[in-house]
Amino acid sequence: MSTLLEYGRSHTCGDLRSEHVGSEVILMGWVGAWRDLGGRRFIDLRDRYGLTQITFGEELDAELSARGKSLRSEWVVAVRGVVEDRVANGGSVNVQIATGAIEVRVTELNVLSESETPPFLIADEVDAREELRLKYRYLDLRRRPLQNHLMARHRFNQAVRTYLDGHGFLELETPFLVRSTPEGARDYVVPSRVHAGTFFALPQSPQIFKQLFMVGGYDKYFQITRCFRDEDLRADRQPEFTQVDMEMSFPTEDRIMTFVEGLIRHVFKAVIDVELDTELERITYAESMRRFGKDAPDLRFGMELAELNDLVADCGFGVFASTVESGGLVKALALTGGAERSRKQIESLQDITKPYGAKGLAWAKVTAEGWQGGISKFFDTGEQAKIAERVGADVGDLLLFVADKASVTNAALGNLRLHLGEELGLRRKGTFKALWITDFPMFDEVELDNGQTRWVACHHPFTAPQAEYAVSMEERPGEALAQAYDLVINGHEMGGGSIRIHQREIQERMFRVLGMPEEEQREKFGFLLDAFRFGPPPHGGLALGVDRLVMEMVGASSLRDVIAFPKTNRAQDLMLDAPGRIDQEQFEELYLESTVEVKDS
Ligand code: AMO
Ligand code: AMP
Repeated sequence: MSTLLEYGRSHTCGDLRSEHVGSEVILMGWVGAWRDLGGRRFIDLRDRYGLTQITFGEELDAELSARGKSLRSEWVVAVRGVVEDRVANGGSVNVQIATGAIEVRVTELNVLSESETPPFLIADEVDAREELRLKYRYLDLRRRPLQNHLMARHRFNQAVRTYLDGHGFLELETPFLVRSTPEGARDYVVPSRVHAGTFFALPQSPQIFKQLFMVGGYDKYFQITRCFRDEDLRADRQPEFTQVDMEMSFPTEDRIMTFVEGLIRHVFKAVIDVELDTELERITYAESMRRFGKDAPDLRFGMELAELNDLVADCGFGVFASTVESGGLVKALALTGGAERSRKQIESLQDITKPYGAKGLAWAKVTAEGWQGGISKFFDTGEQAKIAERVGADVGDLLLFVADKASVTNAALGNLRLHLGEELGLRRKGTFKALWITDFPMFDEVELDNGQTRWVACHHPFTAPQAEYAVSMEERPGEALAQAYDLVINGHEMGGGSIRIHQREIQERMFRVLGMPEEEQREKFGFLLDAFRFGPPPHGGLALGVDRLVMEMVGASSLRDVIAFPKTNRAQDLMLDAPGRIDQEQFEELYLESTVEVKDS
């Protein structure tokens, strides 16, 4: 055994400062960059706390110096040495690093572990492909940015626990081997060996269990837990992700939102030392869609959308008039200073709106002599003035219009707004705008493959309607509003929750609207419906997306950068090579048969 290992570290690689000059220390860490100068070797010794420069002097100890020169990248070493002042040694202070005033002259060296040449350089910036970094994730995890992100994630979890414990919340666990839970994605399923032909589902959230905790009398519950959803993956979705899941008895929507604001403010302060607004703005879903085209708006900048149906119903531009005629929606936004853009630049913006189904992106430049270019010729001076005023466009601005069915118009312009905000640098990292979206609809109408439509719960089937819709929601589901709310920060949905239904007749009505036959209700949620026969307290709650929150806090651009061992956007773990095959024996044990031949990838 190495002698230095016996003694243990006296300091980490991030600890030493000028005041330590002259003391003897023992450090352990990884060999990073090195260079030779005037017969000396200088090595950056690295651990998760920082970097310390260590030196070997040939003139002092030739044998030790030779061993120092044999060290290679990513070897793990222990060194004993003396802290020296860099300037006194003829060097200069490195202001980039916390230990930049000192260096450690090595007097004893133990090699603890050797390393092959890593497949990519362990540095703050790497140009290695992400697939390679994911395959060697443990090496990627040595890089400073990832270490900072995971340390922030640790602080996040601790801050949540401190705050919630301090407010009397109990941290309680719920099972992973369950039946389907109602968050609307596909389930990940686990076959049962004991019960032939049956399956567990992994929870999409602890939703039902936390409601049962309320029935059980645990009036304030939370859990930092993993959720599993087999859904179409995007930049801000992972197949397994983490929630701060919470539930309370005897709440109102307002009390839940106010409480969660306190939690979020505490966490932002504790993790990144940022003060959020004291009272978060609350915007209804309808207003958010009208002004921003989205239910998770980024309020760090303006460029709001304006509805123009009344102004363009009889205009000379056929596309607009016929859109209004057929019940669609015409909207526009004004790009400040956009009139300077060339026609080609303007038309390339269609690449942004097309994926959302927009058939075109009409435009006009606002000049002192009236509109120019694009669809200008279809509008007389009076119409131009009215539209420009509605949209808030000044001379020098560019008007951009979409006419389509409401969902397409909103999605196209809402995302164009985000794109332009990004392009103009209005979505600045390190700035945060949090708000609540309230008054969500109870139901969404979705089209089935056979062309028919059906109602699905916007949030989930236990979400309570606002009192005035408790009865009418069955007749007119499209009008019903829910006691549901989302927390939005910088254009991302960071959390969502609701007051739950605890009265049986409303729950039954809900299931009827969803077209869920009694048999299926019993099969899926029978135990919850049973529990509700025995005095369920009024209750409600919310879940925060930990990965998304940490990603935004640290300014990462992908969820993968804040998750230690993430999946790719094809739902694979490249390090484990999972999902993988199982043996024929396992198939048989689980009473399974495969209908496809798995090929080597
Ligand atoms: P919801 O489905 O809105 O609510 O999820 C809550 C929050 O979890 C985050 N989130 C995700 N993060 C990463 N990858 C995903 N695939 C993913 N899906 C969701 C989002 C979201 O706001 N049981 C309810 C909560 C409740 O009603 O109390 C629920 O799970 O930030
Ligand atoms: P067109 O008459 O088809 O050449 O279209 C004239 C302009 O209107 C072009 O800039 C198109 O991009 C735009 N346009 C066409 N359809 C729509 C639509 N549904 N919404 C907004 N702009 C459109």
